[in-house]
Amino acid sequence: MASVSLSAIILGLLQLANILGLVLWSMVSPLLRLCRKKHSPDFSCDIVLITGGAQGLGRELAFLFSSAGATIVLWDINQEKLRETVSEITARGCEAFGYVVDVSKREEIEKGAERVREEVGNVSVLVNNAGIMFGKSIMDSDDAQVDLTFKINTLAYYRTVKSFLPWMLQNNYGYVVNICSIVSYEGMPRLWDYSASKAAVLSFSETLRKELRLAGKNGVSVTAVFPYYISTGMLSYSNTLTSYLPPLDPKDVAMKTVNATCEKKFCIHLPSFLYWGNLVKFFLPTKAYDESMSLFFGDQYVTNLKVRNYLSSGEK
Ligand SMILES: NC(=O)c1ccc[n+]([C@@H]2O[C@H](COP(=O)([O-])OP(=O)(O)OC[C@H]3O[C@@H](n4cnc5c(N)ncnc54)[C@H](O)[C@@H]3O)[C@@H](O)[C@H]2O)c1
Repeated sequence: MASVSLSAIILGLLQLANILGLVLWSMVSPLLRLCRKKHSPDFSCDIVLITGGAQGLGRELAFLFSSAGATIVLWDINQEKLRETVSEITARGCEAFGYVVDVSKREEIEKGAERVREEVGNVSVLVNNAGIMFGKSIMDSDDAQVDLTFKINTLAYYRTVKSFLPWMLQNNYGYVVNICSIVSYEGMPRLWDYSASKAAVLSFSETLRKELRLAGKNGVSVTAVFPYYISTGMLSYSNTLTSYLPPLDPKDVAMKTVNATCEKKFCIHLPSFLYWGNLVKFFLPTKAYDESMSLFFGDQYVTNLKVRNYLSSGEK
């Protein structure tokens, strides 16, 4: 057996001490933050681009980032709602630009990014928010809808990062915010493609964070957001869980997202205790776990789940 040198043992112990120090710091720093005077987020030097920013969570994020001083760029396919949101922001004396960009199409993302650089400037905060859901079981799924779900919910996140990250890397400055979902951790009936597309964004966000670390770009942060059901109209359902855990207010989700971005947190779960719920999966036997999911979620959500109709709303 090869002998381990003393210097390798010391190096290993130092690395271990460093890891323990980081764990301790992650526990102490939220307490220190509570004691410190809270500063409101300041994005006055930033250009923030939000995909799917015309309505829902994207619209609330646009209002909050603009209140924090940012210049806002919104991409969406819903021209009417895009115009309304941009007008509301500019009426408050803030700067906002709206572009009709279909993020399911690579060429539109590339051309859109070029146009934003020429007409507005370099994007330093990229918020990947556009998302869709068709709510069909595996056997009822339509191939074209499944393709579109992955194009918008996953591939667009990768493509926008490819378009906007080079400037952030050059300047070692920037923020990438990826809106995931609590179902990134959990395949749900009638949501297989949505859950899988959001699970892929979790992997993408972790990889991006690690690649930035390896490249020494600690000035560029990644924030992944994992919300439970939000009352935006994207979907609606009722079950055992919603009777004591009502849908989240999009304004509140937007506020927590902007704060987490400002604090360069890697991930937030909304509500935060749901993060611990994910760990149950690793301890319970599968059958007991499925029964507990049934108890909390109630199987009736499968029959009463309604999703926004993208075909009739002129969105897609
Ligand atoms: N609503 C929820 O319960 C919930 C829960 C967890 C996560 N999320 C995620 O939050 C994000 C925002 O969801 P929301 O509830 O605000 O939905 P929403 O339907 O209210 O808004 C989505 C926006 O994306 C736009 N969009 C759709 N396809 C597009 C495309 N091809 N190109 C550009 N824009 C497009 C729509 O026009 C719309 O303005 C999504 O990523 C969603 O998956 C939502």
